[in-house]
Order: sequence, then structure tokens, then C-alpha cells
Amino acid sequence: MAREEILPSSDFAFDLLKELRVPYNVRRHSLKVADKAIDLAEKIKLKEIDMNLIEIGGLLHDIGRCKTHGFKHALIGAKIIREKGLGERLARICETHILGGLDKEDAKQVGLPERDFLPQTLEEKIICLADKYIAGTKEVSIEQRFEKWFSKYGKTPILTKAKERIEKIQKEIEDLE
Ligand SMILES: [Fe+2]
Repeated sequence: MAREEILPSSDFAFDLLKELRVPYNVRRHSLKVADKAIDLAEKIKLKEIDMNLIEIGGLLHDIGRCKTHGFKHALIGAKIIREKGLGERLARICETHILGGLDKEDAKQVGLPERDFLPQTLEEKIICLADKYIAGTKEVSIEQRFEKWFSKYGKTPILTKAKERIEKIQKEIEDLE
């Protein structure tokens, strides 16, 4: 395995969001996602989780929202992380947190490069899931989150697939408790 990068501290990560002018509501959301991700990760007994990566990944997953709130914020976030030398693991967390991750087809459809943006490591999956539980700064169930999206956008194939993927991730994580 490649040497793991040294992660920034939580103070550094949170200050960076402000410095890049990530909006206040997004910064509050990010704090909540980090907390929720830590909660989910702490319940896991059967696998080793990098808690530091969980916390910093939660704080930085939406860093790309300093530029856009569209789907591209995932890609832009990853680019910022890489340019700042903050490491591939955090960049991947940014890239894979949208919906339940996006496959090639989904990515193309939403105007992202045609490749998979699917969470693969447990840390990536935990952040992606925690983000779905936190709508703005409010905790909701996965069911509620998707019902809201379905009523707004309809039961589109991309949302239907996303819900299935998130439920699979949810189950995978619960099975590790
Ligand atoms: Fe996001």
C-alpha cells in the first residue's frame, strides 16, 4: 500500500473552508457531516477505520462548493485538495460523495467526465452516507432524504440507482457493527 499522506488538522481544514469562502451554511453542514460520520464510524467494530480521515474528510467533502453547487463541486473539490497537496484520500472523498456515488453513465448524464465516481473505501462510503443523513444541518432518514428528492425531481433512474447504492452502503456499514 502506498504511504498514507499526513492529514491536515481539523482547525486547518475548517479555516481553509473559510479562506476559500465556502458559504457559512455549507460550513455548518460540513461540521454536521463530520460529526455524523464519526458516529457511524465509531459503531464499526469489525474493521479498522481511520477516524482522522473520517473527521477531516467530513469537513472538506464540500470544499468545491466555493466554486459551484452543481455536481461539479465534487470534481472541483478534489482538484483543490490535490493542488494543495492534501492527499489523494481526501480528494477521493470529495469525488465520491455525491448521491450514492456516480457510475460512468450517471457521471456523463450530469456533465462530469465519463468515469466512475463510486465510493470504494470504507471511509469514502461513510462520508457519502453521512452526507445523505444531513440535509443542510438537519438530520433526516435516508428514506426522507430520497422522498424529498423524488418529489422535487421525480423518480429518475439516477436517483433510483442512488437510493439503492446508499441502502447497500448503509447495510454494509451496519453489518460491521
Ligand atoms: Fe456535496
